[in-house]
Amino acid sequence: KSLVHTEWAGQNIVYYAETDSTNIRAKLLGEEGAPHGTLAVADMQSAGKGRRGRTWASSPGRSIYMSLLLKPDISPVKAPMLTLVAACAVAKALKTCTGLEIQIKWPNDIVVNGKKLAGILTEMSTEIDYINYVVTGIGINVNIEQFPEEIKDTATSLFLETGNTVKRALVIAEIMRFYEIYYAKFMETKDLSLLQEEYNRLLVNRNREVRILGVKETYKAYALGINPSGELLVRRQDGTQEVIYAGEVSVRGV
Ligand code: BTN
Repeated sequence: KSLVHTEWAGQNIVYYAETDSTNIRAKLLGEEGAPHGTLAVADMQSAGKGRRGRTWASSPGRSIYMSLLLKPDISPVKAPMLTLVAACAVAKALKTCTGLEIQIKWPNDIVVNGKKLAGILTEMSTEIDYINYVVTGIGINVNIEQFPEEIKDTATSLFLETGNTVKRALVIAEIMRFYEIYYAKFMETKDLSLLQEEYNRLLVNRNREVRILGVKETYKAYALGINPSGELLVRRQDGTQEVIYAGEVSVRGV
């Protein structure tokens, strides 16, 4: 019997002991007409993808690699907002499962005690005015006991933070539960208006000085939180406000 008590999110689970990337699998499932809410889950990925063309490492059986297939009736320009919906759900679920002070680093890194715990990669297939499907891939470091030297200062796992082994199935079920709730709120307005407060509460950058690494210039600013479109509002030192678009800049803590 499934642990996932939802209407649709994660009701159809396709499990892979080993696969290339659950994002690739979920996209193929999307092409084949799998239903909204189908979840591709793997114990191990041989070609895990991260954002900005990076790879996502795999530790067999110790982490969560999963991709949720979505078929939202929204304009393609709004699809990136679904990444923030997922960030909210992952942060909230991990918090509920472990009691840890989980936070979001805008737009969609999940961090705890300043270290990265999980990442989200959204990909989509669209026509000019409609979405065929969206795939939101989620990678969470669950029971990893040790990270390679190069990332051990910036990465962490639930095991390292809590000292306990965490049941992956429970984490997945909890994420699906929150995802469904937050997705419904998103669909109500087709933007993040109803999630903005929750997201900003979880935002690690909020009310902190951040460095904006833009294409043309780098500057320090004070992060104020996201707007209903998921863009980050910041206040520059001269008092003017600016809207930061994901993808355009990288935000660092100073
Ligand atoms: C990031 O760079 O922070 C995003 C990482 C996303 C990794 C997950 S693991 C499951 C899914 N399949 C992939 O190939 N990537 C995502």
